[in-house]
Order: sequence, then structure tokens, then C-alpha cells
Amino acid sequence: MVLTDFSVNSGAVFTEAIGSDRLDLLTDYPFTRLANLLAPISPRANVSPMVLTVGEPQHTPPAILEETLRATASGWNKYPPVGGTPEFRAAVGDWLTRRYDLPAGLLHADSSVLPLSGTREALFMLALLAVPTRKAGRQPAVLMPNPFYAPYEGAAVMAGAEPVFLSATRETGFLPDLDALTPELLERTALFYLCTPANPQGAAATPAYLAKAIGLARQYGFVLAVDECYAEIWLDAPPVGALQVAASLPHADGKPWANLLVFHSLSKRSSAAGLRSGFVAGDPALIGRFSRLRSYGCAGMPLPVLAASTALWRDEAHVEENRAAYRAKFAAAEAELGGRYGYYRPAGGFFLWLEVGDGEEAAKRLWAEGAVRVLPGAYLSRNNPGEPNPGDAFIRVALVQDTDTVAQACASIVRILG
Ligand SMILES: Cc1ncc(COP(=O)(O)O)c(C=O)c1O
Repeated sequence: MVLTDFSVNSGAVFTEAIGSDRLDLLTDYPFTRLANLLAPISPRANVSPMVLTVGEPQHTPPAILEETLRATASGWNKYPPVGGTPEFRAAVGDWLTRRYDLPAGLLHADSSVLPLSGTREALFMLALLAVPTRKAGRQPAVLMPNPFYAPYEGAAVMAGAEPVFLSATRETGFLPDLDALTPELLERTALFYLCTPANPQGAAATPAYLAKAIGLARQYGFVLAVDECYAEIWLDAPPVGALQVAASLPHADGKPWANLLVFHSLSKRSSAAGLRSGFVAGDPALIGRFSRLRSYGCAGMPLPVLAASTALWRDEAHVEENRAAYRAKFAAAEAELGGRYGYYRPAGGFFLWLEVGDGEEAAKRLWAEGAVRVLPGAYLSRNNPGEPNPGDAFIRVALVQDTDTVAQACASIVRILG
């Protein structure tokens, strides 16, 4: 379960270690590794590349985004306030209360919400907030699912913690098995990243699962960070959220969000990855400390972006349109891939996690023979000593292009991989 060998560094461009030796413990970022893998391969002529690697929605963002940016352009010459604006916090608080059916007034947006310039930077910075020098007299541990969103590992390593990769395979419902966590590990755990719906597998945690994770965080005194960036991209039913579960637990001490932070983004919900807009919400004590830390190191969300984000969190029509578009893409994918490569309909997100035998080999063949670009699953996961890498046999396919391209790409996958 615990990784000790950080030897994979396909870039190997450093002649001499300058500065942080922790950085050398990290592999190249997954997309750098993919670029290195595919660089020597030229796809067959006359086929337009179909890029299904990055989780970057290609739908046009709603018009209110641009309109609001234009209407608030006088704010570009102001430094962004770390805490955002009261209007932004209120829009987020109202959205969370609506989306997760929170009891009215339970979430105090002014003390429980911070704007983020996209969630990636904050998921990374979070480790600086959550990881002490020692925990239970030992090196702190940061838990994460395996496979995982790469910044979790980067954050853990750069904060001086040990990243602990918890297998999230078909056998465990594509989420880490919480019952397998030992008290020895939990005692030195400083931070636990959970992702639901999960990237890449699309599994959504149940209320019981989230309640258990929250309980462990409180019992062992660590921060539970629930990455809910894909919460609004779902096919059949809206995935439950961690705040929703926390609200339903007994909280006689008046601290419903203790130890808990959730992360949400407009990148997927509003097809606005370039806006760099998200938020973190939850435990006011942690939010207060995060605000202090972020005063030193965050980019801050510019006032026009705060205004546009406020408008987007208050609008649901474009999100429903988005979901309908993803449903069409999944239908197209399922028509081609159903019954093959362990295809299943994910609870959320827009990825396919396909079992193809050898993910790296499949990615090379798909690029060479069909100009289809996908990500080997192994680039999103690690192998713990004595265990197989849970991503080795998989490829991740992002259904972010238009439906015709998705259908064509999936047909190519079947033609090439058989
Ligand atoms: C699981 C997960 N979390 C967070 C993010 C970051 O999104 P952003 O920084 O655009 O909010 C991504 C982006 O792909 C993601 O897949």
C-alpha cells in the first residue's frame, strides 16, 4: 500500500539536482509522459487527430460568462480579494444548499467558502495547510485513491508527507477500501484526498461511505478533502455530496463541517476550464487558516471572474444542457463499446476507463493506426511494492469532443484493438 520507489522519471533532463530534492521524487506529469510516449509515432496520413486525453470540455461556455466579464471589466485593475466578494460567497452558499438539500442556514458562506483560481492550485496548496511536521511522532501520511488526480501526489510529496496510494479497483467498487485502513496508518494520516465522482473511473461514493470517511477524519484528526469537481456531470442521478452527508450526521457540538473540505469547479460544470474558477467549502476553522495561507501564496480570483462565476453558479439551464450533451456522448460510446473492455456506465464524470490488456501499448496503437489519442491508465496510478499497478491494463478516454467525434473514435478503438 505504501510507495517507496519513486524511480519513474521519464523526462530525466536534470543534469544536477538544483533546489528541491522532493521534486525529484515526482514522475513527469501524466501528459508530459504521454507526449514523450507518442512523440516518435506519426499517425497514418489523412486521419484528423481525435484527442480524448485531457478532461477539457469542448462545449461552448454559456453566453453569461462573456457578458458578465465585459460588464465588470472595470475590475481588472484591482487586486483580487482572497476571500472573494459577498455576492460570490452567497451564490456558492445558495448553490450548495440547493444542490445538496442542506438545512436552510446551516452553511454560513462568509466563513465556509473561499474562491479558488481553479481547484488544482488549491488541492495542491491544501497539503501545506494540512500536513504538520510530524503526526503521531512520525512522518505524516497523505492518503489518496489509486489511480488518482496527479496533483494529490505532488502536493503530498512537496509538503514532506508520504503519499499512500489506496487501490481503487473494480473489486473495491473503484473507491479505496476504507475498512482496509489500519489504525497505525490512520494515526499518522494528515490528509485524505477522496474524489467522487472519481477521475478516472466515474464511481460515486455512497452516503454510508462518505459518513465513514468523515468519521475517520474526526476520530484520527486529519483533513478529509473531497474533490467533487465532476459532481455536476452525471447520467442518471445526482451524486451525493460530502456536505450533504455531514449535515445528516449528529453534530451536537455545532460543527457540522468539522475536518471536512469539499472542492468544486466551473471547469467541467460550465465548460469553462480557462476561466480558472472553483471554490472550497466546509470547516470554518480550516477555511480561516486556508485564507491566511492563501493570503501569502494564492493568485486570487479577479473581480470580473468573481462576477462571472457568481452568475454561473446561479444558473442551472446551461448545466442541464451540458448533461444532455454528455448523455448523448455516452450513448454513442456505449453503442460502439458496450460489452467490450469491461465497459460500464459511470455514475459521474465524462471518462471511460477501459480495460484493454496493456494500456501503454493500446495508446500507441490507437495513435499510430487511428490518430486517436488516449491516456494510458498507468500514468494515473502507481504500483505499491508487491502489488500490480491498478492502471496498467487500462486506458482513460475523455468524452469531451462532439458526439460524432466520440462515435468515430470509439469505432476506431474497436477496429484497432479488436
Ligand atoms: C479530479 C480532478 N480534480 C480537480 C481538477 C482540476 O480542475 P480545475 O483546476 O480546472 O478546477 C481536475 C481537472 O481535470 C480533476 O480531474
